[in-house]
Amino acid sequence: MVYELSNHLTKTLIAHLRDQSSDALRFRRTIGEITKQLLYEALKEPLLVQKSITTWRGKESYAVIDEANIIVATVLRAGMPMLDSAIDVLAGASAGFLAMKRDETTHKSVLYYDRLPECKGKTIILVDPMVATGGSMMDALELISKREPLKIITLNIIGSPEGLEKVSHAYPEVDVYIAQIDEKLNDDKFIIPGLGDAGDRSYNTVE
Ligand code: PRP
Repeated sequence: MVYELSNHLTKTLIAHLRDQSSDALRFRRTIGEITKQLLYEALKEPLLVQKSITTWRGKESYAVIDEANIIVATVLRAGMPMLDSAIDVLAGASAGFLAMKRDETTHKSVLYYDRLPECKGKTIILVDPMVATGGSMMDALELISKREPLKIITLNIIGSPEGLEKVSHAYPEVDVYIAQIDEKLNDDKFIIPGLGDAGDRSYNTVE
């Protein structure tokens, strides 16, 4: 299922991201804020565990998110501000990193860095700001699915209807939480209206 955030605060932050005068620092921080809003939605039906805590009144038990069984994963590099923000609030979760490069002749993506922790039985939260063609998400989901996680959730900032349709058709069991579904992809496979290249905007690079 694809879930789009509809509140005014999220949409206002999306407008800040579209604004070309938002510099890299503001861009990353805004991405981080939206990530927390996505997490709030995505973890409404979480795996809760009872945790015994020593409070000022002594030992008490509270229902908390089972952070120890969550892995926040990203594909370098535009997902880094999302990952940083997610593990700031889910301090007990593990982080996982993948890097893939698309071979320009075969159009297949080649994995060249893999530091995902053991995924079996865990909830994987895959973060990537953009779903354009959906190719990157599909590659990451294929790789993660093979590792037998309990569940995969994705958090995305902006996407095209085309890319999201592709992903949700191929992976109906994956819950996709996205802040903004835009109008379309253009012929160059950019999201329209979009916000430019999230990696370049975050890290002051132009390719
Ligand atoms: C961006 C973005 C997604 C991908 C989306 O990454 O972070 O991973 O493009 O496009 P797709 O849906 O058509 O695959 P990019 O390849 O620009 O790398 P970067 O993170 O290093 O900027």
